[in-house]
Amino acid sequence: MTAAKNRILELRAELDQHNYRYHVLDEPSIPDAEYDRLFHELKALEAANPELITSDSPTQRVGSVALTAFTQVRHEVPMLSLGNAFEESDMREFDRRVTEGLDLPVGDLFGGSAAVEYSCEPKLDGLAVSLLYQDGVLVRGATRGDGTTGEDISVNVRTVRNIPLKLHGEGWPATLEVRGEVFMSKAGFERLNASQLEIGGKTFANPRNAAAGSLRQLDSKITANRPLEFCCYGIGQVSHDISDTHIGNLKQLQKWGMPISHELKLAKGIDECLDYYRDIGARRNSLTYEIDGVVFKVNSIADQRELGFRAREPRWAIAHKFPAMEELTELLDVEFQVGRTGAVTPVARLKPVKVAGVTVANATLHNMDEVARLGLMIGDTVIIRRAGDVIPQVVQVVTERRPENARAVQIPESCPVCGSHVERTQLIKRSKGKETVSEGAVYRCVGRLACGAQLKQAIIHFVSRRAMDIEGLGDKSVEQLVDEGLVSSPADLYALKFDDIVDLEGFAEVSSNKLLAAIEDSKKPGLARFIYALGIPDVGEETAKVLARSLGSLERVQQALPTVLTYLPECGLDGAHEIHLL
Ligand code: IVH
Repeated sequence: MTAAKNRILELRAELDQHNYRYHVLDEPSIPDAEYDRLFHELKALEAANPELITSDSPTQRVGSVALTAFTQVRHEVPMLSLGNAFEESDMREFDRRVTEGLDLPVGDLFGGSAAVEYSCEPKLDGLAVSLLYQDGVLVRGATRGDGTTGEDISVNVRTVRNIPLKLHGEGWPATLEVRGEVFMSKAGFERLNASQLEIGGKTFANPRNAAAGSLRQLDSKITANRPLEFCCYGIGQVSHDISDTHIGNLKQLQKWGMPISHELKLAKGIDECLDYYRDIGARRNSLTYEIDGVVFKVNSIADQRELGFRAREPRWAIAHKFPAMEELTELLDVEFQVGRTGAVTPVARLKPVKVAGVTVANATLHNMDEVARLGLMIGDTVIIRRAGDVIPQVVQVVTERRPENARAVQIPESCPVCGSHVERTQLIKRSKGKETVSEGAVYRCVGRLACGAQLKQAIIHFVSRRAMDIEGLGDKSVEQLVDEGLVSSPADLYALKFDDIVDLEGFAEVSSNKLLAAIEDSKKPGLARFIYALGIPDVGEETAKVLARSLGSLERVQQALPTVLTYLPECGLDGAHEIHLL
């Protein structure tokens, strides 16, 4: 064997090992930079010796020439679906059927048996795939399709980083079909949509659609650039049995390099299953990926065989679903809200609908580009999504249900709060010393502090902890001060008298004095805090610090020309123009 071949094999083995520790065990063993160095060394060696490239090399996850169509694949063992349970009673009913089917003695009031052991796993929201390994080498990847016939997506699955191209260790069946879910993490989905927006590409409504759209690409080079992951939850065709339990199977597959769920648990009896459901449900928002329920499977493979199937569902498994995060409703109207920097933001007023247990009547629409991208019209039926604690979003319009009297969404010409003119913002770009101006996505009310909405938000920002840190002035009190005409700029706070405050709702003698003392105390902030407190668009805490450090006084900040300001780190061109307007 040549030295190059030796080193190539050594590098592949080492990279495989790091991949396994990173993706399967979640215990990275070396820093990313070191991994990259080894990877590039392997790439260079393979480039110099192309005859040594094999399809299972870690460098081969980049996709290949685009296909014109996927070919069909027949599943030797059909890929089934699962029955659903929504209520505790559905779960107890399932457990009763299992107990009866296995002829076990009934141990509880509901007809179940504490003796049945179930495996518990999250139900990942992605798409089912089958991976076929022959003699430990990945030879085929397929979608579920209708359960009997799927599509050959071999080139695509090879690009998924945590799918082993060959199995580790030894003892695997010569033919081993691994089944699991390809999905996209919440963070991967957000990143993908952000970069799609940037390049003017198609964005996805949810991580599931993003995963499906990415995996079923005829051009696998696109798939290779999408943050897809795999999680194994079972086996299909095998040349010999692996273990006598489902959890035993998964644990063994993990040793061979398969990623399995970190949340895999064994439950004894249905009550422990219900505890698992509640526990995962409580942690649903903090998981890094989306799930739509949990899956319970009878752990004993012999018991699974005894129970068998009914129609296209196993009698030994069930999905206990969580409330859906997406619902259909109607867009009643679009109203416009004015923010601190004057941005006029469209907000969807919806026919109230319950989404995952919470009634949703409003959803953010971000800006008019988003309205255009969605193709949204008032009267439309829309899909609302409430993921975790984030503000509900309109993710899709159901165009087929558009009524005849649907109306276009129009940005108002004047501010709904103060009546000032509403202008489209401009995007200023500079290249080779020249500035070019194009239309931005945001519309702004030009009223600045003369606009009640902007004034209120500006003062709320001014007094906030990270700005002037004036304690004792809540949002409601700021609104009152503005509505009563007591302040019309942040500076007016410093002219407030005891008599002005004591009559406000929620104020009394002690709290009024406390507030006046807090206002007095705030008079000597650092320059950076003060610049930040001014709430200049595009000037966050970091930019404020840089401005204070570089220019030293407010006068010099005010006098600096935009072109000068952009030479400072953290200061973009838009921000520079805003600062100059001070
Ligand atoms: S087991 C015979 N386990 O849910 C059992 N499925 O409705 C077959 N899924 O098509 C599936 N996570 O795409 C199983 N831990 C899990 C799962 C899971 C997600 C999906 C899978 C399947 C669908 C069944």
